[in-house]
Amino acid sequence: MTATKGLEGIVATTSSISSIIDGVLTYRGIDIDELAEHASFEEVAYLLWYGKLPSQSELNGLRKELDAYASVPAEVIEAIRLYPKDTNTMAALRTAVSSLALYDEAAGDMSAEANLKKAIKLQAQLPTVVAAFSRIREGKEPIAPKSGVSIAHNFLYMLNGEEPDEVAVKALDQALVLHADHELNASTFAARVTVATLSDIYSGVTSAIGALKGPLHGGANEAVMVMLEEIGSLDRVESIIQDKLNNKEKIMGFGHRVYKNGDPRAKHLQKMSRELGKLTGNMELYEMSVKIEDIVTGQKGLKPNVDFYSASVYTTLKIARDLFTPIFAISRLSGWTAHILEQYENNRLIRPRAEYTGPSSARYIPINER
Ligand SMILES: CC(C)(COP(=O)(O)OP(=O)(O)OC[C@H]1O[C@@H](n2cnc3c(N)ncnc32)[C@H](O)[C@@H]1OP(=O)(O)O)[C@@H](O)C(=O)NCCC(=O)NCCS
Repeated sequence: MTATKGLEGIVATTSSISSIIDGVLTYRGIDIDELAEHASFEEVAYLLWYGKLPSQSELNGLRKELDAYASVPAEVIEAIRLYPKDTNTMAALRTAVSSLALYDEAAGDMSAEANLKKAIKLQAQLPTVVAAFSRIREGKEPIAPKSGVSIAHNFLYMLNGEEPDEVAVKALDQALVLHADHELNASTFAARVTVATLSDIYSGVTSAIGALKGPLHGGANEAVMVMLEEIGSLDRVESIIQDKLNNKEKIMGFGHRVYKNGDPRAKHLQKMSRELGKLTGNMELYEMSVKIEDIVTGQKGLKPNVDFYSASVYTTLKIARDLFTPIFAISRLSGWTAHILEQYENNRLIRPRAEYTGPSSARYIPINER
């Protein structure tokens, strides 16, 4: 038995949800470029869960369900008040999602119908949880979700306590579309491994959040912003990035396990970053990002991934740096849950093998002889 480090190139499951073929990403066969251009996040979530685009009445039905489920139990909010104010936002989200299960009587109901309902419920509740934690740590009261608006709109409203402007809603909605699913990425795999034991959907999503948190995965968007803040201005880009490359440091937001010729999502976020920069009259983050890209791509051949330009996008939308990865989670929840439902439909325990590299023929030595 020979191990493949990081399971690179290993095909671990079949799936009809999303595909990456020759560098093209599709959700249910539809090119991400088309979806980014035309679809709302709610349409995409429907597409991932049900395998087809919704009709207008089906979309209205989903929006109604999302509205109905968006509140979270008071006990979960009370528990959030007890979290340390400076706790990591992804740790807070992981804990809060796990605690949502405690107040859902259907948490253990494994019928397909109940699981789909829980997926929709979690999709509705995640933005509420993230916004509530953000406000509580700032000493503010959480704001109840409102009905009749999109998830992107509602999230910004609950976060800031005021109606968001349309440009911000549109940008966030498009970012949610772009992050919704991505084949067998690390967090989705974690979710599938967890539920393949026939554990419940909340356990699967909690595992996924834990996996997304790391800087090699979803945590990279926050790490990109840390780097941009460290650089601070356009004139410092060259020397700092060159130092990092000379020191063989990883440049966050670059490289990808699957895409070697560029991440198809990155161009949409780059465009968004440029347009938002122009609109707000502050192009510096965008220009810094472009300069970093020129150097890293020029010298290493590495291209930006989905996380690179999302950092400048979210910062221009005045979103705190440590909410970037929770926003990724809000979006990817749609993909995670679609994969969880698919796993349940045709389940087999996921239990690979390990290539043993430890000592052989070792003997037990009594403790007083060691
Ligand atoms: C995404 C990522 C984890 C993929 O990892 P991987 O497939 O295991 O690729 P590796 O880490 O083996 O990288 C292959 C080579 O490219 C280099 N490389 C990869 N990403 C790099 C980066 N962001 N900056 C500098 N060098 C990088 C590695 O150092 C390695 O070089 P070597 O062969 O000389 O040792 C990796 O590219 C990375 O760490 N990127 C930064 C974090 C990030 O943006 N994550 C979000 C992904 S969407």
